[in-house]
Amino acid sequence: MTVVKVAILGFGTVGEGVYRTIQSHAEELQAVIGKDVEVAAVLVKNKEKARDIHKDVLVTTNFEEIIQLPKLDIVVEAIVDREPTFTYLKRAIQRGCHIITANKEMFAHHGKELLELAEKKSVSVGFEATVAGGIPVIQTLRQLLQVNRISEIQGILNGTSNFILTEMREKKQTFTESLLQAQKNGYAEADPTNDVEGFDAFYKTMILSRIAFGEEPDWPEVERQGITSISSECIAAVEQVGLRFKHIATISKNGNQIIGSVKPVLVGKDHPFYHVEGVENAVNVFSDIVGRITLQGPGAGMFPTASAIIEDLVYVSLDHKVKRSFTQTTAPLSEQPEEQNLNCWLVQGIDKSLLYPQWKILSEPAEGFLIVEAAKKDLERLAKDHPTVCYFAILDGEFEIASDKKEAATVS
Ligand SMILES: NC(=O)c1ccc[n+]([C@@H]2O[C@H](COP(=O)([O-])OP(=O)(O)OC[C@H]3O[C@@H](n4cnc5c(N)ncnc54)[C@H](OP(=O)(O)O)[C@@H]3O)[C@@H](O)[C@H]2O)c1
Repeated sequence: MTVVKVAILGFGTVGEGVYRTIQSHAEELQAVIGKDVEVAAVLVKNKEKARDIHKDVLVTTNFEEIIQLPKLDIVVEAIVDREPTFTYLKRAIQRGCHIITANKEMFAHHGKELLELAEKKSVSVGFEATVAGGIPVIQTLRQLLQVNRISEIQGILNGTSNFILTEMREKKQTFTESLLQAQKNGYAEADPTNDVEGFDAFYKTMILSRIAFGEEPDWPEVERQGITSISSECIAAVEQVGLRFKHIATISKNGNQIIGSVKPVLVGKDHPFYHVEGVENAVNVFSDIVGRITLQGPGAGMFPTASAIIEDLVYVSLDHKVKRSFTQTTAPLSEQPEEQNLNCWLVQGIDKSLLYPQWKILSEPAEGFLIVEAAKKDLERLAKDHPTVCYFAILDGEFEIASDKKEAATVS
């Protein structure tokens, strides 16, 4: 029986999870692929670290030793940073290997080039683990929604931010206290900027855009905001009216225009993301035939991420080519530009004398906070003139009007 030879670049949380899963699920892999899967080599930075790796596996700090192995079918990449990763993966494709990556930052920047090169070389690229860890969102878009026209994807794509928001609400903690807890639990890195300022979710959103729409918006046009501006008072105020903060990435197509945002928004009890707590991730896909699909699950961690990579390993071994990544879909045009639509907002730090006459006050959940119905362009103008004013969109769902808890307002 022939063997599929795999090299794993990186042996940290993800790389080790992949190695251990290949051992623990050898029979299943053999049954699906029809070949044994064997780890031939592992690339690390520090060869002196003690690791539980079989003596027959080449463990090296030198990529040249890996790329020159006599037989190599698949290169799994679980390193960090854009380089040397991108260069390694290009070399692997040029050699004729399928590649699988978990590295969203690298893939958001260089995925298009890797996919084009892979197409030329007739190999496959797996990148399920780059978005939402163990949730099979990429494969769902690639393989299961090939005819559906996708109009929008929303996602809680950063488990660290979601964990911090959950801790702040449940334990009535400050942002700093909750961030410290996330770091203690191993969810946040020593420098948490990528997570709490929305960069990580932004990269994932660009990858989703490419797979759903075949293209991305201009990166500088995408509104990106992290969770650092959300205070404990703000969280407590919105809880009074049955709303929760969630850090949500949205990508949609309106005619030929792709619109993206990554920012904290408020959701009501009816929204599928309301109960997505802690490090969980969730993704809503809206498309024309099926309507809305919600996927939810672990967005990170050793085995959830290994699960995504192992499923990709099967996918590339069976030699599937990316079908959707270059498909252009056309979504219907909405009737008017989003900034002119009337939406509901939580506004903080506003003097009532500044309110525009056409705005409707729906609720005053606590002193200094108002829920208003207003057009985005007006709020943007107001916040520009008064920098202490900040505002958050209420996505949809039902919330209570504070003055009379029996009454409820529905936003859609
Ligand atoms: N952790 C998760 O839950 C998760 C989920 C989805 C995606 N990802 C992505 O997966 C990738 C890996 O994450 P991780 O959490 O496994 O990271 P990690 O625990 O920090 O491990 C990184 C590994 O890469 C090795 N490495 C780093 N730079 C290298 C270089 N230049 N050459 C050779 N080896 C190098 C390190 O070697 P040493 O062991 O010798 O230091 C280590 O084994 C990242 O891109 C991350 O964004 C992670």
